[in-house]
Amino acid sequence: MSVDITLINKLLAAQNIMVLTGAGISKESGLSTFRDSDGYWSQYDPTKLASLDGFLADPLLVWKWYYERKQKAIAANPNAGHLSLVEMERLFKNFHLFTQNVDNLHRRAGSVNLYELHGNIFHSHCLNCGIKYNDDFVITDKVPICDICGGMIRPSVVWFGEQLPSDILKVAFEYANKCDVFFTIGTSSEVYPAAQLPFIAKDKGAFIIEINPNPTSFSPTADLSIRNPASEALTEIIHLYKQVRGI
Ligand code: OAD
Repeated sequence: MSVDITLINKLLAAQNIMVLTGAGISKESGLSTFRDSDGYWSQYDPTKLASLDGFLADPLLVWKWYYERKQKAIAANPNAGHLSLVEMERLFKNFHLFTQNVDNLHRRAGSVNLYELHGNIFHSHCLNCGIKYNDDFVITDKVPICDICGGMIRPSVVWFGEQLPSDILKVAFEYANKCDVFFTIGTSSEVYPAAQLPFIAKDKGAFIIEINPNPTSFSPTADLSIRNPASEALTEIIHLYKQVRGI
């Protein structure tokens, strides 16, 4: 593994650490990624399942897919990758975790400084009046309907063609501009604006570590690429960091 003292020295000197995660960090919890050869988008059409037009065309199909994903996320447990990021939050003063994942596993692991760029699969809201629901809908043959206005309820996730929550995106750009160490973990770096964040950090002089068993379009820009699963790489980084600090 390419965890060495250079990275540990960067961590020791860092004032602000930023992390961006993607579906790869939850793969070892048994959840599917999107663009791997066995990922969702190799089997399903994202325009049908992850866009407003797809939802309007067939809301029950979309709800059934999200319902199935929720059941899988509930059955899954955070893995050593998620737990390592919780430990990093304890070890470093200014540590901020941004995720593209909607599976709630970072929160269940115990991360607090957590920002969900693409929403959360366990939240929903009315398409018509916007009222929020903490949903426990069981989806069988009906789309959930708003108690207040009778509109269709939709999952509170960001679909293709939709804006990311502006408050969260603002904070993400702010931290990308000021962090000195940036980890991009388990993401193909294909979806913007999230994929822009490590480029911004790099432009501002941050040290960028990519953790991904496979190369991505971001790899040539990374200062260090660790080609291991997230759980192994993060466990190793924490181990070495604690060893150097004698804690
Ligand atoms: P992708 O499926 O695009 O990428 C997952 C990445 O994880 C790949 O580059 C894999 O090589 C890597 N990977 C696989 N196993 C890993 C492991 N054990 N440890 C570390 N990395 C591993 O998923 P995202 O980049 O998260 O958005 O996708 C971004 C967005 O595209 C998602 O939020 C979703 C999707 O469409 C929406 O649905 C709007």
